[in-house]
Amino acid sequence: MTQPATDSHDQTTYPPPADLASGAVATAELYEEAAADRLAFWGRQASELLTWDVEPTEVLDWSAAPFARWFADGRLNAAANCVDRHVAAGRGDRVAFHWVGEPGDTVTTTYAELHAQVQRAANALTDLGVRTGDRVAIYLPMVPEAVVAMLACARIGAPHSVVFSGFSAQALRDRVDDARAVAVITSDGGYRRGEPAPLKPAVDAALEPRDGVESTVRAVLVVQRTKGEVAWTEGRDHWWHEALEAAAPTHEPVSVEAEHPLFVLYTSGSTGKPKGILHTTGGYLTQAAYTHRNVFDLHPETDVYWCGADIGWVTGHTYIVYGPLLNGTTSVMYEGTPNTPTQDRWWQIVEQHGVTKLYTAPTTIRTFMKWGEELVSGHDLSSLQVLGSVGEPINPEAWTWYRRVIGSDRTPVVDTWWQTETGGIMISALPGVTSLKPGSAQVPLPGISVEVVDDEGRVLPAGHEGAGYLVLTEPWPGMLRGIWGDEERYRDTYWSRFAKEGWYFAGDGARRDADGDVWLLGRVDDVMNVSGHRISTTEVESALVSHPSVAEAAVVGASDPTTGQGIVAFVILRENAPRGADGQDVAKALRDHVAREISPIAKPRQVMVVSELPKTRSGKIMRRLLRDVAEDRQVGDVTTLADSSVMATIQAGLQGSRGSED
Ligand code: PRX
Repeated sequence: MTQPATDSHDQTTYPPPADLASGAVATAELYEEAAADRLAFWGRQASELLTWDVEPTEVLDWSAAPFARWFADGRLNAAANCVDRHVAAGRGDRVAFHWVGEPGDTVTTTYAELHAQVQRAANALTDLGVRTGDRVAIYLPMVPEAVVAMLACARIGAPHSVVFSGFSAQALRDRVDDARAVAVITSDGGYRRGEPAPLKPAVDAALEPRDGVESTVRAVLVVQRTKGEVAWTEGRDHWWHEALEAAAPTHEPVSVEAEHPLFVLYTSGSTGKPKGILHTTGGYLTQAAYTHRNVFDLHPETDVYWCGADIGWVTGHTYIVYGPLLNGTTSVMYEGTPNTPTQDRWWQIVEQHGVTKLYTAPTTIRTFMKWGEELVSGHDLSSLQVLGSVGEPINPEAWTWYRRVIGSDRTPVVDTWWQTETGGIMISALPGVTSLKPGSAQVPLPGISVEVVDDEGRVLPAGHEGAGYLVLTEPWPGMLRGIWGDEERYRDTYWSRFAKEGWYFAGDGARRDADGDVWLLGRVDDVMNVSGHRISTTEVESALVSHPSVAEAAVVGASDPTTGQGIVAFVILRENAPRGADGQDVAKALRDHVAREISPIAKPRQVMVVSELPKTRSGKIMRRLLRDVAEDRQVGDVTTLADSSVMATIQAGLQGSRGSED
């Protein structure tokens, strides 16, 4: 057993367990190799981790920066790398997924079975007229077909755009329109919280003509999961199982260039319009396979790996689908919520399947902490060897709880920092090498270069007291290749802040401690992080002002003990808006309205009805002051306000109008 140690700064650290370190996939040499020749290092990863139809001879072309081309003269197919080559190597009988449905049904899929399904699905898409280069929207709950659908798109070279199935019809339509998707893959519904929840009606609503304009979608494939009644549009809608049944059983994967688009995934930025983050094939896959293998110390012959994310987010893309499958991993995939039917559902699954590696978000860990460790103690979790965390800073209390209670006081916990834009993990400890420090994401992975800098782009040295900005100083293979259809926004958002230095601006605050370890401090822009989900303040504000009762709205993220941040909305009502007793009715109506417009994940935790908002003389809302109110703090400096009495008015008006949570 590893004993925690204390480093020179009185910080408890946890050295790698000896048995793990002795057989670790990643050793300290990886850092040396990457430091000696970064591009040669990535070239080796690409060549060893992937199977190329045409081996690339060049690693990086950065001549058109900030548009990178990695392994540009290579050719390959993503699905063939994830599936076919394992079958060809005689590993067809290995389980790819142990899928666990929320009601208790299970589906076990071997690599050979996945191979058969993906080929049929690729043929079914082709039969529906989907061609290489066409975009396909995938709007599916966590069913096995979600993975098949993504791989089928990749197999024919049709970039997928997965839309989280918790998003509204409106959000789906925005994304379908922006990507000009030609097909949607969805289901009749899915199970959540013990109930079947319909999904197809949202697709039907999303594809209605909008402002007289038809959607670009010509075909809808519908997976049958809940077997509920569904409305049907003849000629457009097709059952997934019928289409696959009718399709030819074999399919030759389309060999694409390394820079061929693999997927577009929408994420929130600091404006109301979501950004379609574009990832391409060769570089993204290299980083997915490399990070998954090394960060999780993956031994594919024996490991049972489980990532608790949803395929609707980038974590699901890289660490449920591409990374694990590229490495020939056996994974668990779970459909539902952690407390259905009981709060120990996850631990039953870990025990039953002998899960060895588990990857989840701090918000989930904090929820388990709240539910109590008794729920865990009844289960044998001794199979677990490495635990991962992603999505938001993990507070040291949650980190130590995760290690002690879930990891039997023994397993490393790796805190992994990355973004939709980075494609894969960028900052993380390596479990067989690094002495772990609770609360810090620690060090860039071998091959990745980061700095923490001040406003002027000066590098803040280790041990510097103040906070700075996290920047990525060298291109990396999994980097986004742009924002779909918006070159300008790509340059502006990521590359203009430190244009002179040519650095990528991540939008996160950070500091470096005396050992040089990186501590992430949250977003520095108007993006909130709620339960590890990115939501922009403007998006929620637009949803609020689209309600007939609202004249004006300002939204801030306030710290929340479970979800990291909670959404707090300040609204000014229209003169004639019905208010209800204490503003409670209107607050509820507005919270429900946001859930319908965007998604339940964007539902404000609190709605506060106010008569004015704090604005500067140029009319900009001072969110900093609203955040003080939302977090129950002394309100900061108000001297730049056009009317400095506004904050007093807001605070007075709020007495008694709080507590609109339900
Ligand atoms: O603010 C950082 C936070 O999540 C943002 C990226 O969100 P998204 O693109 O949705 O991807 C989430 C999953 C990779 C980052 O800009 N974030 C992510 N991981 C961490 C984190 N903040 C602190 N520590 C982390 N480990």
